[in-house]
Amino acid sequence: MRALLGILVLAIAAWLALALLAPKGSSEPAQAFSSSRECQTCHAEIFAEWEESQHAMSWTNPAVRLLSNDFANQDCIDCHAPQPVFVTGIGNRVKPRTLRRAEGVDCISCHQLPANADGTPGGMAGGLNNERAACRPTERRELARPDHCAGCHNQHETVDQWRESSWFDGLGKQDCSDCHMPIVEGPSGSHRSHLFPGGDTLSMLQRAVTFEGAAVDGAWQVTISNTGGGHAFPTDERSRAADIFWRTLADDGTRGPWRHLHRMRSPYRTEVDVEVTLLQADEVRVLPVTAEPEGLGDPITTDVPIEVALFYKRSPYWIDPANPDPETEATLVHSLELRQ
Ligand code: HEC
Ligand code: HEC
Ligand code: HEC
Ligand code: HEC
Ligand code: HEC
Repeated sequence: MRALLGILVLAIAAWLALALLAPKGSSEPAQAFSSSRECQTCHAEIFAEWEESQHAMSWTNPAVRLLSNDFANQDCIDCHAPQPVFVTGIGNRVKPRTLRRAEGVDCISCHQLPANADGTPGGMAGGLNNERAACRPTERRELARPDHCAGCHNQHETVDQWRESSWFDGLGKQDCSDCHMPIVEGPSGSHRSHLFPGGDTLSMLQRAVTFEGAAVDGAWQVTISNTGGGHAFPTDERSRAADIFWRTLADDGTRGPWRHLHRMRSPYRTEVDVEVTLLQADEVRVLPVTAEPEGLGDPITTDVPIEVALFYKRSPYWIDPANPDPETEATLVHSLELRQ
């Protein structure tokens, strides 16, 4: 028995030595990765971007931990610490993993291909084939397609909204990755950014909509148009809200208190009385400025100079709902001063 074991150990040692010394080539299987940290050595810039992204914090994000009761709600693990999308299959709902959950939506979640029939690691889905690279990238067009994002980002119809928009087809066609993975230049050449900017980035919020004011029949009106969001504004999480406020501007520069005019949001399932007011892609919405929210009360006439502003919130609630303070509780996206 001991002799047999000895031979086995020797055989394994010989195989290991061969595997390590052999020239890198197609005969060698892809490296098996057990953590996204291992990608850092060879893909340092992309790793640094990903580390700053929401994807990297999907397991540690305090907002998620609070709402999922520290993931005691197991349903929340699926997309926040997922198994590789290519393993569960594009088009299917992703499944939760048990290991290295702190890495959240990591390199392996999006790139790892299923194991080969002989059990060797499947390599990484990429834009090219490279038989000599340790991670064995294989060209898989599905990687950059919206169906890949949909496994996690369509539970609130972001991908469906995009499919129904002018961005889906024709001359102006733009995919999720065209807008959310811009090409950036780094020391080792250009690559697709892995920062995934979204509602957390002011320049993205600003380019999502056009915000204009006008005098019509002696009263102020604002027009908000979704000209740059590839989907509804806001989209995805139901907690996101965009609000329009206005206030008076006195000649001496003093400003009145902010007054609420309009909210764009998709309510939580439990909020049965709240309407869906998301600004759909390509939608143009005209709003008369009135004394009370949502077009109620008297119109504000053009002899009153006003400021109108668009704010974005990641959580829908105000500390004091009767007196919301957008400047401290929300992000200012656009502002206009309207004077006769
Ligand atoms: C395996 C699941 C999964 C896949 C696949 C995935 N995402 Fe995400 N994504 C998430 C999660 C979870 C978050 C939020 C993490 C957090 O904030 O805690 C997120 C966050 C984002 C954000 C930031 C949103 C914000 O509030 O600013 C953007 C943008 C984004 N994803 C775009 C994409 C795009 C584009 C794709 C496809 C190329 C994609 N994601 C693929 C799960 C996924
Ligand atoms: C089907 C995939 C999926 C499941 C399941 C899921 N999430 Fe998410 N979650 C996402 C995506 C994608 C985002 C990013 C969307 C965005 O930023 O608008 C996100 C973002 C969030 C955010 C916002 C984080 C922030 O910084 O504002 C919270 C909070 C959250 N999820 C909590 C939960 C909770 C609680 C559960 C379980 C009840 C859950 N999620 C289950 C996909 C999922
Ligand atoms: C949310 C999914 C997602 C995550 C997480 C992710 N990637 Fe990617 N990655 C993509 C997509 C999609 C593309 C292809 C974009 C395109 O071509 O439009 C890509 C492209 C790449 C490329 C080719 C880049 C280029 O433009 O030359 C490399 C290399 C890469 N990823 C490595 C990584 C590494 C390393 C990590 C972890 C640090 C990582 N990715 C995390 C989705 C992801
Ligand atoms: C030992 C170095 C090394 C490690 C570790 C490594 N890679 Fe790579 N990777 C490469 C090389 C080399 C290429 C080929 C670049 C080329 O041909 O332009 C590559 C290419 C890729 C591509 C295709 C790039 C494209 O332009 O489409 C992806 C995706 C990728 N790697 C992802 C990963 C991920 C994810 C990890 C970690 C799980 C990882 N790699 C670990 C060296 C490495
Ligand atoms: C034409 C460019 C464009 C396209 C195409 C696009 N997006 Fe966006 N996306 C934006 C802009 C701009 C924002 C910031 C405004 C916002 O938050 O709605 C954004 C925000 C987001 C957010 C954060 C939502 C929030 O309000 O916090 C997520 C998640 C997201 N996009 C996912 C996707 C996915 C998935 C796709 C593909 C189906 C996609 N996007 C296609 C431009 C685009």
